[in-house]
Amino acid sequence: MSGDPKELLRRYLKQRRELGDDELVLDRHTPAEVRAAVAEGERPRGAAPQPVPPPPRGPDPGDAPERPLHRRAGAPVPGSTPMPQAADSPARGIGADAIRLLPTLDAVRDVSLGCPRCRLAETRRHVVFGEGDPNAEIMVVGEAPGEEEDRTGRPFVGKAGKLLDLLLATAGFERERVYVCNVLKCRPPQNRNPKPDEVEACSPYLLRQVEMVKPRVIVAFGAFAAQTLLGTDTSIGKLRGRVHLYQPTPEHEGVPLVPTYHPAALLRNPGWVRAVWDDLQRVRSTADRA
Ligand code: URA
Repeated sequence: MSGDPKELLRRYLKQRRELGDDELVLDRHTPAEVRAAVAEGERPRGAAPQPVPPPPRGPDPGDAPERPLHRRAGAPVPGSTPMPQAADSPARGIGADAIRLLPTLDAVRDVSLGCPRCRLAETRRHVVFGEGDPNAEIMVVGEAPGEEEDRTGRPFVGKAGKLLDLLLATAGFERERVYVCNVLKCRPPQNRNPKPDEVEACSPYLLRQVEMVKPRVIVAFGAFAAQTLLGTDTSIGKLRGRVHLYQPTPEHEGVPLVPTYHPAALLRNPGWVRAVWDDLQRVRSTADRA
């Protein structure tokens, strides 16, 4: 049998597919391996994303976890190609600077509900802006709406959402007392990878949500949320276990950010529950200290 990791991964994926799995946890593989091994299309929530290219940096990013991404919301992601200005462009509709000036969370929500800033506007059923306590100490950030969220317009209401509620409750955080949202407010078709220009187009909403809610701690559930908010492609397995800083611009004072596994990943790997529990204790102690 071949010992080539790519071949092993390919066989593993094939076997899991044949067993009926359509959700696979791939966090231990590099995005390049995942991209090479998985055919285009459907991707499980909680699996490693195609990350937004991180800013140029020196040594192993895993050794510099607190280093935040300094990037204006809506500004080009370092290393990404400039956004096209055609019909497919995320630069349509209200500009990032105008979103930054919206005075209330309700105003940001209202604008987002008609958002035409990227191609997902054409396929979504509902914009899933986010919900919860507008003065919450804890802000939960996931990846993007799935089918159930797209149908209802509410974040984390599917299977993964039920587990999220349970995890939060066992750690002492009632769902009603936290603020729950996603990096992307619209569902990518078939839950495919969010594209870098979609993240760019949507990021002003998330930034404004953070500015308005002013959470003491952000919990990034899953590789995609953690990597996007921290501007890194370090795996979630390496990111989790410590407190980082979400600091979208150098002027921003930053918000402590605790990365952890996505609930959809936990459904496949119950053994990771302990790690998530530890991370949620970290959230508690960080919030208490803030
Ligand atoms: N539902 C959400 O709202 N976000 C996710 O990341 C997954 C499911």
